[in-house]
Amino acid sequence: MANRERWGSRIGLILAMAGNAVGLGNFLRFPVQAAQNGGGAFMIPYFIAFLLLGIPLMWVEWSVGRIGGRHNHGSLPGMFDVMWRHPISKYLGISSLFVSTIILIYYCYIESWTLGFAYFSLTKEYFNQESLSQMQSFLHSYQGIEKGNFDGIGIAYIFLVITIFSNFFILFHGIKGGIEKFVKIAMPLLLFFGIFLAIYVFTIGTPNPANPENSVWAGLAFIWNPDFSALTDAKIWLAAAGQIFFTLSVGMGTLQAYASYLTDKDDVALSGLATSSLNEFAEVVLGGTIAIPIAVAFFGLSTTMIIAQGGSFNLGFVSMSVVFQQLPMGNILGFIWFFLLFFAGITSSVAMAQPIISFLKEQFNFSHIKSVSIVGIGIFVCVQFVVFFFQFGFLDEMDYWAGTFGLVVVALLEVIVFAWIYGMDKGWEEINRGADIKVPKIFYYIIKYITPLYIAFILIYWTVIDAIPILFMKNQIQENIPYLWGARIMMILVFLIFVFMVYKAWALNKDKFDYHKTII
Ligand code: PHE
Repeated sequence: MANRERWGSRIGLILAMAGNAVGLGNFLRFPVQAAQNGGGAFMIPYFIAFLLLGIPLMWVEWSVGRIGGRHNHGSLPGMFDVMWRHPISKYLGISSLFVSTIILIYYCYIESWTLGFAYFSLTKEYFNQESLSQMQSFLHSYQGIEKGNFDGIGIAYIFLVITIFSNFFILFHGIKGGIEKFVKIAMPLLLFFGIFLAIYVFTIGTPNPANPENSVWAGLAFIWNPDFSALTDAKIWLAAAGQIFFTLSVGMGTLQAYASYLTDKDDVALSGLATSSLNEFAEVVLGGTIAIPIAVAFFGLSTTMIIAQGGSFNLGFVSMSVVFQQLPMGNILGFIWFFLLFFAGITSSVAMAQPIISFLKEQFNFSHIKSVSIVGIGIFVCVQFVVFFFQFGFLDEMDYWAGTFGLVVVALLEVIVFAWIYGMDKGWEEINRGADIKVPKIFYYIIKYITPLYIAFILIYWTVIDAIPILFMKNQIQENIPYLWGARIMMILVFLIFVFMVYKAWALNKDKFDYHKTII
């Protein structure tokens, strides 16, 4: 479409795509996953998943996005409709709108904590909470689930409003004037902060000479020394694949949305690879060097294990904040850490909003301002439940169905539509159109056979060992169950709204979406 917006420059595009991929997942989720799943051994299934799932899906998603963009579609329902002339295809595409929107709803809230904690670091607000348990209470009281430093949720709420406002402020300015402009500042700063902190970690060495076994080196060894016996455990392979999906943002529709603003002359192959590499650098090198080694140096290995078992928030918000209090200029370091997280978060959350904004603009012909406003208000309304029911596991429930399970479903549908329905030969041509590198032919076969089988296997296994017990709420605290049902009802409603919107849009735009008349 002649009037579709375009990226301004290649570097802008790569930074935006990398901003999309590099997120809280790199700095909070990855270290915990690595620590919980055999340390160095985790890296073996992780890299295999990167090669067989991550990179192929990255190319597939960029190509799907560009195919859709040619027909003025920035979201998956339209993209699938172009690629597969079947009445059901557009409905299958809803899965990705669902996943990105649900993730956006809770991700915004976590992102807002990072902003809050960046501020509290500067002002030394938490600098009298010296132990892990005190700091934990500080976080809980901030989240409104414990009485203590804060009376109620008010402050957290203010940061949430600022965060949501910032996101939609960027989105109001569109692709080139908003997202691209922002990532050109945010991404270099993020990388600079990350590299600075990673180097700083090495200067910590052994903070307490009386306890020489608690050192940064022991922390690095813990992350990197393989425990090969872990490799026979299927759960580790699944965790590794799940991390690859989440961190690269595949299976969400967000890479496709960004790629829909490409032209046929643009390269997909090298840029996709560059984006993936940048993400892996930020994850494995930076993400792997900061939080865990610091925790081991200050608290020792066994306590770090306990912290990591407690999840990403414990590691990122609690243990890091205790450490900052013991370091010279700790308030500045704390600010850098939390601001790094904030930038990582916001460059991802604007991406999550993009598919649904595109959908409203393109399928309903709404103006840009109107579409952004509707999504902004919708997210703001939904996030209330996450804030107020946080302690009952509302967020975790959404994270499981959208952020763990859902994206694998989307990826499977997508690779089948791309490689088997649209056809791998046409698909291969699309990947190589305008390409600056020659993609090795082996990826033709990987994308056609291995990637779909790999994903199908993960999905079946997950359904059996996780999804079914979770669906029936085995091992749930009784009093949380009504809230978890609340989360599900909200998700089902969001899904149904999307179904209705797709139905309406296609009924309205019969002519416009008749691709028989155009050349695909
Ligand atoms: N990849 C992002 C991260 O690592 C998360 C993300 C999810 C981004 C969904 C876009 C869409 O945190």
